[in-house]
Amino acid sequence: MSDHRIAILPGDGTGREVAVEAQRILDTIEAHTNHGFEQNVISCGGQHYLETGEEWAEGSFEYCRDDADAIFLGAIGHPGAILENGDLAGGSVILGMRSGLDLYANVRPIKLYEGVPHKVHGKFTQIWEPGMVDMTILRENTEGLYHSLLRRCADRALGRELYEPPEMTFPGLDGEVAYDPRPISANGTERLVRMGFEIAETRNGAPADGIKRVSCIDKSNVTRGCQLFRRTFDKVAANYPGTECDYGYIDAFMQWITRNPEHYDVVVSSNLFGDIATDLGAVLQGGMGMAASGNIGDEHAFFEPVHGSAPKHAGLNKVNPIASINSIQMMLEWLGRRKGVDELVSIAGLIDDSVTDHLKDGTALTYDLGGDASCSFVGESIANRLSTKLSEL
Ligand code: IPM
Ligand code: MN
Repeated sequence: MSDHRIAILPGDGTGREVAVEAQRILDTIEAHTNHGFEQNVISCGGQHYLETGEEWAEGSFEYCRDDADAIFLGAIGHPGAILENGDLAGGSVILGMRSGLDLYANVRPIKLYEGVPHKVHGKFTQIWEPGMVDMTILRENTEGLYHSLLRRCADRALGRELYEPPEMTFPGLDGEVAYDPRPISANGTERLVRMGFEIAETRNGAPADGIKRVSCIDKSNVTRGCQLFRRTFDKVAANYPGTECDYGYIDAFMQWITRNPEHYDVVVSSNLFGDIATDLGAVLQGGMGMAASGNIGDEHAFFEPVHGSAPKHAGLNKVNPIASINSIQMMLEWLGRRKGVDELVSIAGLIDDSVTDHLKDGTALTYDLGGDASCSFVGESIANRLSTKLSEL
């Protein structure tokens, strides 16, 4: 029996519903294998803040840092839940962990499964062929335009004094001015880019030509931070001569991933650019309901669906649980590699096979993919497929 301690942070809105489906996958694995999961469910987020005055109970951050082997987060964000200083209530959870646990890479795979349509203009169509879209975007996760807020959220989680950027004046600007510094460091970029090249080693190259390729996406024609980002990219890339380097500006990149997603294999970008690009990326894979992610550092990681709390759908049992199920897939792969337990990596592969079979079958899809199946029905049916595969092991 190998036991893994997992913090489950359901958070707000639909995060609570999809967390149940993530847990169902862990329960299924536990029922059929020697892997046990001690699941510690921690209430947190904006709604928890409105109810209790805290973003999460004292000691929660420390549990995630010191005790959990891995963390699952549903979603953070509740209407009206804002802290006194104007920051997002629940930020200590999502941004506090990103910064406070030094989770420098936000890894967001974008893969189009067979049977998944695209909803564009209110119609379900097949715009990109499955097999054309299979890339992983790495978004820097601890600095850039988020830096001040990330820092404050980590300060709250760690009980430190809150950081505020220094007062500044800007020549030519009068009246009230708000600004967000966007620090980009060589060290922060280097570790992100290195992880990008390492991930490229494990993949099959770009769908178009099978070439292993890492694309550096920035705005180095305009900002100094991006110039440093690109210089650092080149420095790291020199250690990976077998992988092709590719470059793009973020604005042009938005067009290219829409027109030629098959060109992309691994993409590295700074924090806000990666945030924006991965929402468009989600469209290529059938929408936010399909978008999984891992916030990964050298010591810790948390895994979350990209879709957020979607308050208007909350409590209706209708959102797509696949983003969460695939986040669990990423968690098991990470945990397996970290602990040197190959079986967990294989089980992650079986989750992927179960999702693939479910989507190919196409009879039970949630509303975002053109069906009317419920969140729990889809979660159960993928878990059942996984059960069958695990019992055949
Ligand atoms: C994401 C989200 C978050 C972000 C929000 C909830 C702070 O949009 O994970 O992409 O901007 O990073
Ligand atoms: Mn986002």
